[in-house]
Amino acid sequence: MYVCICHALNDKKVKAALDQGATTPASVFRHHNCQVQCGKCVPTMRSMASEHRAVLVQQAAAATTIAAVAATSATAPCCGPAIPEPANAEAIPAYAVAAE
Ligand code: FES
Repeated sequence: MYVCICHALNDKKVKAALDQGATTPASVFRHHNCQVQCGKCVPTMRSMASEHRAVLVQQAAAATTIAAVAATSATAPCCGPAIPEPANAEAIPAYAVAAE
């Protein structure tokens, strides 16, 4: 789909510019070495840029969550959840005494 008719910029070219750091329609034009002419594409480029930012924010939040889970699991015991001590931990089973 063409976003900018004046410069033949389709959505793939606009997305490529956004992926490489463009954040505004002006920076998309700069990325493609052109300048705004009629300006009819600017609202569409603005909405594409805001959607792109929203996706980046979601990806950053997901990466943070994954890192937090990884940090939590790194401190957890290796063999699953900790088994609580029995209420009568003092009582040593007879087979344990025999083994000592
Ligand atoms: S349609 Fe983009 S400048 Fe005219």
